[in-house]
Amino acid sequence: MLFLGVNIDHIATLRQARYKSAQFNQEPDPIALARLCVEAGAHNITAHLREDRRHMQDRDLILLKKQIKAPLNFEMAITPPMIDFALKLKPTEVCLVPEKRQEVTTEGGLDVLTHFTKIKKATAKIQSQGIAVSLFIDPIEDQVKAAAGTGAQFIELHTGVFANSKSKTTQKKELLRLNKALCLGKSLGLTVNAGHGLNYQNITPFIQALPEVNTLNIGHTIVSRSIEVGLFRAVQEMVQLLKK
Ligand code: PXP
Repeated sequence: MLFLGVNIDHIATLRQARYKSAQFNQEPDPIALARLCVEAGAHNITAHLREDRRHMQDRDLILLKKQIKAPLNFEMAITPPMIDFALKLKPTEVCLVPEKRQEVTTEGGLDVLTHFTKIKKATAKIQSQGIAVSLFIDPIEDQVKAAAGTGAQFIELHTGVFANSKSKTTQKKELLRLNKALCLGKSLGLTVNAGHGLNYQNITPFIQALPEVNTLNIGHTIVSRSIEVGLFRAVQEMVQLLKK
């Protein structure tokens, strides 16, 4: 079965565009809308607490954990304060991602080869509290092997190159590279997720090429479509595409 994780950061981005300081009753409310995503068929909720707090706020994560019944996939950079926050929050899963202040969204995967010791230590610390760990990486053989070596249970393959492919040829080439990384990950005992730039148009060829992927984490396209058709229907439509 293929699972859908809805990334709700983009809902918080809209809220922060109007309300900078934390107050109650601000709209749109990511917690209420996360609940709606789950009611519409999302299997889990993904949220990234960035160091600059540009979208999700600490309080959002605490409320998501308390109030949303679905598993919470908490994306974070590997910094001591963020690790402390995760240990207190106790989400179902932590997805470790690289973070640069200037980027619009996460660009590129973690370099597990270069930062192996730091990632392995962070992984063990987070897992010691019963939290599963996922590493967001590019579909590169050596990165997959290094990820398996850290003890993480999951990898999330970065699908940005696929999503941004300008031609069918480059798209096909990238799908082959992604599937190779997926098969390698599975053979090393990892559960393989994917995400970034997936949308209503490219999701079908993606699933056809990687039928064994576990969870797809999707945000921007669902929140964009929700402006047209409402969030409930936008999530339902994506769930239907995943079922096909
Ligand atoms: N997975 C990770 C690790 C991400 O950083 C993002 C972007 O926030 C996504 C998935 C979702 O990407 P998109 O918003 O392009 O669907």
